[in-house]
Amino acid sequence: MYVGVAYYPEHWERRRWAVDARLMQRAGFNVVRLAEFAWKFLEPEEGRFEFGWLDEALAVLRRHGIAAILCTPTAAMPAWVPAKYPEVMALQKDGTRLVWGVRKNNCFTSGTYRLLSARITRAMAEHFARTPNVIGWQTDNEFGGPVCYCGTCRSEFQAWLRTRYGSLAALNRAWGTHFWGQAFGDWAEIPLPVDPTAHNPGLCLDWQRFFSWLNVRFQREQVAILRAHCPRHFITHNFMGLFSDLDYYELAADLDHVSWDNYPVWGKPEVRYGAAMAADVMRGLKKRNFWIMEQTAGPGGWGTFGRTPRPGEIRNVAYQQLARGADGMLWFRWRTCTAGREQYWHGLLGHDGRPLRRYREAALTAREFHRLAPHVSGTEVRPQVAMLYDYESIWALRFQPGYAKNDYHQALHRHYNALFRAGMNVDMVRPGDDLRAYKVVIASDLFILPDAVARALCAFVAAGGVLVADCRTGVKDETNLCHPRTLPGLLSSPLGIEIQEYEALADDMQYPAAGADGLGEELTAVHVADWVIPRGAETLVRYRPRHLRRYAAATRHRFGKGWALYVGTVFKEEVFYDQLVALVLEHARLRPVVTPPPGVEVAVREARGRRLLFLVNHTEQAQRVRVPSGKQELLTGRRTGTEWTLDALGVAVIRL
Ligand code: GAL
Repeated sequence: MYVGVAYYPEHWERRRWAVDARLMQRAGFNVVRLAEFAWKFLEPEEGRFEFGWLDEALAVLRRHGIAAILCTPTAAMPAWVPAKYPEVMALQKDGTRLVWGVRKNNCFTSGTYRLLSARITRAMAEHFARTPNVIGWQTDNEFGGPVCYCGTCRSEFQAWLRTRYGSLAALNRAWGTHFWGQAFGDWAEIPLPVDPTAHNPGLCLDWQRFFSWLNVRFQREQVAILRAHCPRHFITHNFMGLFSDLDYYELAADLDHVSWDNYPVWGKPEVRYGAAMAADVMRGLKKRNFWIMEQTAGPGGWGTFGRTPRPGEIRNVAYQQLARGADGMLWFRWRTCTAGREQYWHGLLGHDGRPLRRYREAALTAREFHRLAPHVSGTEVRPQVAMLYDYESIWALRFQPGYAKNDYHQALHRHYNALFRAGMNVDMVRPGDDLRAYKVVIASDLFILPDAVARALCAFVAAGGVLVADCRTGVKDETNLCHPRTLPGLLSSPLGIEIQEYEALADDMQYPAAGADGLGEELTAVHVADWVIPRGAETLVRYRPRHLRRYAAATRHRFGKGWALYVGTVFKEEVFYDQLVALVLEHARLRPVVTPPPGVEVAVREARGRRLLFLVNHTEQAQRVRVPSGKQELLTGRRTGTEWTLDALGVAVIRL
């Protein structure tokens, strides 16, 4: 188990390095991440490399048993790069270039930038391939921007479209360019969609795909070099959880494992549904465990700072991720920097460099993780409930949300949070993935629904699965045209419904609704209403207003050996989703290992012959949880009775 910090030896005097390494070792840290913003110190002038300082830092760390992940430093270019090659700076919509001095400011089609990136990557890979304590690489830092609107990006986009569609006739058909007479007669006529709320939706979707692909290509060039020179090192990247400007499935494909940056302590303390879902999305990218590359170590901010983790919270945040599949964990950052834009982004140590409360709590966590390592090693989270997670739907909904309050992540959270409260773990899967491991699949807000995916969902239900779909699922095809069918298109037969009309509800409009089967008699439909006509399905919730009496707000249908449920609106009452989940689990004959009290998170990691139950208390009160008795709790070594008491923000790991 690797536990450690992001470390910046270049920020401190050399004589401090041994002090830092000693403190890290004492804390139980055995890994650091280095050099992601150190390009200037590694290549002070074009083609002149200086690796001596990093060799020295690595040697100091090695003497204290600390391994290192090195980064390709391309997220922050030195000032000499744009001074020599101004064209590497991304061009903004208004035609001006980004001004150097902040990170992530290069154009990804710049051949110059790609060559400079390849050169520093190759020089580092050659130099550090045999450094004994280097174990892996992080590519760049947090891919995601910027979008560039330069001439090269435009011509590369046109060339990319040509490869994708083959002919202009195919592209014109795919984008529906008969509308507003937009048909193209030459590839060079195709514009960049500077206004994604007004340009052709097909163009916008492809532009987003292209932008994502540019990042993937840039990383792929670095990965190829690293693989050639450092075959024994792993390669990862620090993803950003629910960030969704890139197709993370594609970015992850070239890596050994995904890592991600987790900063969940911005607002007031709360149940961390967001960080849980982000972890599940990250695990889903490669269907394997992940690392946390950066984790909240203190208050953060560039101008103003947020709150500091409360006593117990650094440990609690760490356990939430361990429970959901983290196999390595690094806090960001070691020591708070006295200089630069991130002076307020606090590390485990403050500006003063003293090992105080936050350091001690991280050290306690690290030591516990090492004790747990033999149990945790090789285990994974293996849920029987899946949610489809789709970047293309996210993008297409950004261009056209349909109803004003439509937010993809919020739509997923309505179901996800209810499953979390029920103690059920979830896999986030890519549309088109094999669904055989699952008993329940939730396709929420799955706006883009290619026919092949719709057919797979039909087959899933026919074979005995339980499907939940909701409003705006299945509206579009993969080119962002509306399907020329009555909604919900190919899903009509499993769902047993038809939707001929739908409407958005302004903030001052809502419909009272009434559920059957324990789904809540006093419900309120907000934001959007599908006027659902049952065609074989049973109505679970009906709208109360006179004009909607014939229509259903939620339905259930037996199809083949399975069930398909539909929710045609957003219910204001959270309890609806809790009851819906209860119904779904009953149909799927699934039960959580433990039904947690409010605010307690449950996750199970397992391997052959081993099952570990993690309990994470997100509340600041002690919580009693009913657990299987006679089992060993690994942190205390005590046997369980029928109940286990978690301290405020406390955690438990029970071997089942
Ligand atoms: C992360 C980034 C770090 C650091 C941190 C605080 O997103 O990867 O380099 O900037 O945020 O701003």
